[in-house]
Amino acid sequence: MSVLEINKTRVVVLDNPETLVRALADYFVELADTSIKDHGRFSVALSGGSTPKALYQLLATPEFSEKLDWKHIYLFLGDERCVAPDDAESNFGMVKAALLSKVSIPAENIFPTVGQESDPTQAAKDYEQKLGAFFNESMPRFDLVLLGLGPDGHTASLFPGSAALTIKDQIFVANYVEKFKSSRLTITFPVINNASHVVFLVSGESKAEIVRDIFQSATNKYPAQLVQPAGGKLEWYVDRAAAAGLSGG
Ligand code: 6PG
Repeated sequence: MSVLEINKTRVVVLDNPETLVRALADYFVELADTSIKDHGRFSVALSGGSTPKALYQLLATPEFSEKLDWKHIYLFLGDERCVAPDDAESNFGMVKAALLSKVSIPAENIFPTVGQESDPTQAAKDYEQKLGAFFNESMPRFDLVLLGLGPDGHTASLFPGSAALTIKDQIFVANYVEKFKSSRLTITFPVINNASHVVFLVSGESKAEIVRDIFQSATNKYPAQLVQPAGGKLEWYVDRAAAAGLSGG
């Protein structure tokens, strides 16, 4: 493992995808312990995507699941596709199969997103109400927001050029994505940037160029660059392949 400090952001570089998810699983346990000791709960917005899936599968193993106080852990989705939970594209479906179905987390601690092809706006409003009720305040403050990164610099379902990038007064929205000719559901930057911890999990050489560009470009031209938690801590957990374009990576 090596730790870089780039633009005041801690970048933890692991040798390969396996050691990457193991390091983040260890950190997840540490953050859960700290949060629960501090305020009695650990609230997390999980990311979709194939890279986070490997983390969830590891957290579901006894080596990690037995270290986690699931009755005080509350799991949300940071974004969702507009499909049914049993659809192969569903982020909630992926999280349920990889993690939720394998650990002793109380059902009331799980907040599933319900993608709806028919009415994405209503689906987003329904989830926004769940978030508002849980956080009992206007702006949710997650203990951890876990994010992936797309090759185009998107994160959650905040895609380049999409309307949600500029939303300041909503916490969870339907966001039309031109390249998919469909909507996604996503938390907005005000929520992400209000979190106590935000962690990007990025793996593979296919992400090396975008990771380099994000850290080297002076302008905020990628959605991921708008992740700037005001009072929280931003960290990147990447493997060497994804960090290849970083000096010291
Ligand atoms: C989604 C994710 C998305 C994802 C990135 C990285 O719904 O697809 O939330 O933001 O995290 O696209 O995905 P991979 O890890 O599969 O490359």
